[in-house]
Amino acid sequence: MLDVRRSAASWLGLSRHYVTAFTLNTSYGINLLLQQLPRGEFSRVVTSTIEHNSVFLSTMTAARRLSVPRQVVARTAGGELDLAASDRERAVVVVNVVSNVDGSTLAGLAELTQDVHRRGGIVIVDAAQAAAHSPRLVAGTDVDAVCFSAHKVYGPSLGVVVAREELLRSLDVSFVGGGMVSGVSRDGFDLIPEEPWSLLEPGLQAWGEIIGLGAALDWLRDVKPLGHSPHDHITALSASLFQGLSEIPGLHVVNTEPAPVISVWSDRVDAHRLAVFLSQAGIMVRSGYFCAHYWLTEVLGLPPLLRFSLGLHNTPEDIDTAVHTLSKLLRGLR
Ligand SMILES: Cc1ncc(COP(=O)(O)O)c(C=O)c1O
Repeated sequence: MLDVRRSAASWLGLSRHYVTAFTLNTSYGINLLLQQLPRGEFSRVVTSTIEHNSVFLSTMTAARRLSVPRQVVARTAGGELDLAASDRERAVVVVNVVSNVDGSTLAGLAELTQDVHRRGGIVIVDAAQAAAHSPRLVAGTDVDAVCFSAHKVYGPSLGVVVAREELLRSLDVSFVGGGMVSGVSRDGFDLIPEEPWSLLEPGLQAWGEIIGLGAALDWLRDVKPLGHSPHDHITALSASLFQGLSEIPGLHVVNTEPAPVISVWSDRVDAHRLAVFLSQAGIMVRSGYFCAHYWLTEVLGLPPLLRFSLGLHNTPEDIDTAVHTLSKLLRGLR
């Protein structure tokens, strides 16, 4: 399995000093790390307003466990974390690099990480949305760990944690079991020193899913949708969908720019109702708050949204059909 571990890290552009461990999903990976951070090392847990619940909630329980305050900060107009120097001291910063609501990206991650490190803190990144279409956003940033899900990169259901070996070795390992020890006595055990990933992998692993992830990453490296690179393909589709949705009268677009996820709402027709009608027309969208409740309900104060998520299987015709169908529905529904 070493090749899949290496393949996952290199997919993100992280090779030297990083170790890949497998788990259930992004949420589980973030929780596994946060719940095993050593007590007494950190003075605060920091996250941002535009986070998925897997970060938003896990930072609450992490702060409680570490007995430190939790800070929720905004992002600047330029997309940076609005975090004062004094709030970076011995901070555990947990943030996404790409939002699952509007695809907005975090700017300044490398500088933030450098500064947080200098002040004795760490940075853990939620790359669940980034992993498929912009995995290199974490490359060269020196972040301490990146969590993503194989099921968001065309693989089976599986979580991936790519972490600096140093971070794994610093953990107060408390989820333990078979496969991670080299010796056991009546009241103690020795962890396997030469397999640092095993620190996050108690018990039998999902080997079938891990092999599947390896195949998915190989496929992603070679695939040429409609003869284009995945990046060019998804960028063109995103631009076209953004423009099409922006031109539908009465439809509000949450995104300020094109992205592979675009969220919208209508003042007149409930998003869940629209989603059902779109589904009947063979167009799969998601409706609701997409596990970003705090950001959407409390900060932006929006009604449930409709979200289009683009993948490499989509075509320009899909975009035309989606825009045309939604536009027609909004004209017809009362
Ligand atoms: C930005 C972001 N973070 C975290 C998650 C959680 O992923 P999982 O359900 O695989 O834990 C998602 C899933 O939608 C996401 O989009």
